[in-house]
Amino acid sequence: MAIKIGRNDPCWCGSGKKYKVCHEAFDAKIKRYAMVGHQVPNHSMIKTPEQIEGIRAAAKVNVAVLDYVAANIKAGCSTQDIDDWVSSKTAELGGIPAQLNYEGFPKTVCTSINEVICHGIPNKDEILKDGDIINVDCTTIVNGYYADSSRMFMIGDVSPEKRKLVEVTKECVELGLKEVKPWSFLGNMANAVNKHATENGFSVVREIGGHGCGVDFHEDPWVGYYGKPNTQMLLVPGMIFTIEPMVNMGSAKINNNAEDGWRIVTADGKPSAQWEIQVLVTETGNEVISW
Ligand code: MF3
Ligand code: CO
Ligand code: CO
Repeated sequence: MAIKIGRNDPCWCGSGKKYKVCHEAFDAKIKRYAMVGHQVPNHSMIKTPEQIEGIRAAAKVNVAVLDYVAANIKAGCSTQDIDDWVSSKTAELGGIPAQLNYEGFPKTVCTSINEVICHGIPNKDEILKDGDIINVDCTTIVNGYYADSSRMFMIGDVSPEKRKLVEVTKECVELGLKEVKPWSFLGNMANAVNKHATENGFSVVREIGGHGCGVDFHEDPWVGYYGKPNTQMLLVPGMIFTIEPMVNMGSAKINNNAEDGWRIVTADGKPSAQWEIQVLVTETGNEVISW
């Protein structure tokens, strides 16, 4: 807490109340965690009620866009079709796609099939076929606020091994989510995710993680899926971040030497799955904002 704020000054959270009756005790509590060596959030990681409302509005569009994809995706579609749906649905609902032109990304949505871990670029010549698994990752801006989530889709008749990968990865997110509550730590979430994946014979990608999200696309903290309980960053009410583990059927090793500069694949060519949710830490636990 670097900013010096008078006890009678308005609180940094934007409530309009005096600091001493608003977040003073809260800041003191966080400081006690920092003093015994924990990583703690700064004020920019703690969203105000107004920001949370804005992020919820963006999520409403993001979820509707993914619902539209869910209702239409099938064998024979191209990944460009998915990109077209996301573009038109997002615009229709008053949103702006955050991924288009983000650091030079050329499309609106990421479509990552089978051994593609993430950042697959939609292409009219890439046709979904029976037995494929695909992640569709969508990020929407509404009134300057960001919502980011992704889902897996199983196309037609998927092998039992791939189905298990998709289902276990979803369970990893659900088990991680249970650990998201105030005054817990990101390490508790990370450990729950990693444990469930490895107990099922899978591995979790280490180099790519989740992130704070809402006022900007990728905010601090970085959110990994490896670590011990009661380590990593302290969680406090008002934080919003993504849980988005990439779980591999084989080794956790990645290959990020794609010619297009984006697509990340498994080093061993085996399938990978990912689900992404955006979650708010509340006073009593958590609220899933986008899924
Ligand atoms: N939506 C992705 C995430 O979950 C980021 C994709 S960046 C892009 O963080 F440029 F590839 F679109
Ligand atoms: Co995403
Ligand atoms: Co994300």
